[in-house]
Amino acid sequence: MERLLLKNGLIYRGFGFERCCVLIEGGRIAKIATEIDAEGVQTVDLAGLTMLPGLVDVHVHLREPGFEYKETIASGSAAAARAGYTAICPMPNLNPVPDSVEHLRVQLDAIERDARVRVLPYASITAGQKGEGELVDFEALAPYVIGFSDDGRGVQSDDLMREAMRRCAKTGRPIVAHCEVNDLLRGGYIHDGEYAREHGHKGICSESEWRQVERDINLVRATGCRYHVCHVSTKESVALVRRAKAEGLPVTCETAPHYLLLNETNLQNDGCYKMNPPLRGVDDQAALIEGAVDGTIDVIATDHAPHSAEEKSRGLEKSAFGIVGLETAFPLMFTNFVQKGVMSMERLVQMMCVNPRRIFGIPGGLNVGDVADIAVMNLSADYVINPKHFVSKGKSTPFAGYKVQGDCAMTIVDGRVVFRGFDVA
Ligand code: DOR
Repeated sequence: MERLLLKNGLIYRGFGFERCCVLIEGGRIAKIATEIDAEGVQTVDLAGLTMLPGLVDVHVHLREPGFEYKETIASGSAAAARAGYTAICPMPNLNPVPDSVEHLRVQLDAIERDARVRVLPYASITAGQKGEGELVDFEALAPYVIGFSDDGRGVQSDDLMREAMRRCAKTGRPIVAHCEVNDLLRGGYIHDGEYAREHGHKGICSESEWRQVERDINLVRATGCRYHVCHVSTKESVALVRRAKAEGLPVTCETAPHYLLLNETNLQNDGCYKMNPPLRGVDDQAALIEGAVDGTIDVIATDHAPHSAEEKSRGLEKSAFGIVGLETAFPLMFTNFVQKGVMSMERLVQMMCVNPRRIFGIPGGLNVGDVADIAVMNLSADYVINPKHFVSKGKSTPFAGYKVQGDCAMTIVDGRVVFRGFDVA
């Protein structure tokens, strides 16, 4: 049986950090104690480093099959391992779209072959991920996927979404919704706010998001389906989710670091500021931060959306939607929210490790008996974000040049080391 002993690392225990040793046997945590002496076991000294349950990102784009020039399962999961993620959930805007078990098989085979960390895919909600037309066979797909999403598109018809939720509810898996009313888009590509008006750009109104969140919450009430809202970006959506939770509905949501750190006043005419949903107003950013701190927002996901350098080089109007996030999310959140006292370390760990596991049923944790999926962080490492150093093929980020603190030193999946940095002896 494979054994690994992690010595002298710090574990965050809710009330603070404690120095601990962790013994891993057969892929699970066998023992946690102040001192562990085990003979003939591979031992790693983690003095000065911090152990967290492996990070989980429930919203990434790995682009394989179909768009391997942007990213692959190998490159995207290696970027995840580099950053401390032990599980990532890729969205289905692929070719073929995983809308049948046969189509999904192509992706599952690539995962089996190349994935460095757990890669747990979504199936689409509609055939061809069109946001309309035919629904997928939820029951046939459910055993292979983490949930159902048409990410990149909203499901337009109320009747179709009601039927999707009715069928999905029987599987126990969640609907993970990209909320966007096409009729309200009017060719927009950044937030419909002051920057768009001043610089002559076409705006995407907030209503295009929150109208669909509102509709879907009503459908959850009618169907009982578990429902998770993708990349919440508006203050109205935060308020709707808060109310749904108070009512006891099975509703959860995520946002991404860029919506918490930036708003439309940060925009420049550069593709690295373009994503969907767009960076919103100052009020929206404040509401998102409040929601992240008070528990309305359950999860920090990245919406890691790599594109080629050329696709991101055409300014705000013509660049592709999407920025990368796997290799910047934790250091950005730690530096700008935990270090500055806006949120506790415990809250960050909940949003990046604990809640995604609980909501999506993903293994891992830092208790005896848990599957040994662990991120070891060097919380005192400080550096400047440089996209050239990213493992991901995608390099487009608005955070290049940001000074951050906190770097992943080692990543363990199923008790096996999948990334080891220079600062681990
Ligand atoms: O910015 C985005 N990029 N938003 C989406 O909804 C899709 C994603 C992508 O696939 O590039």
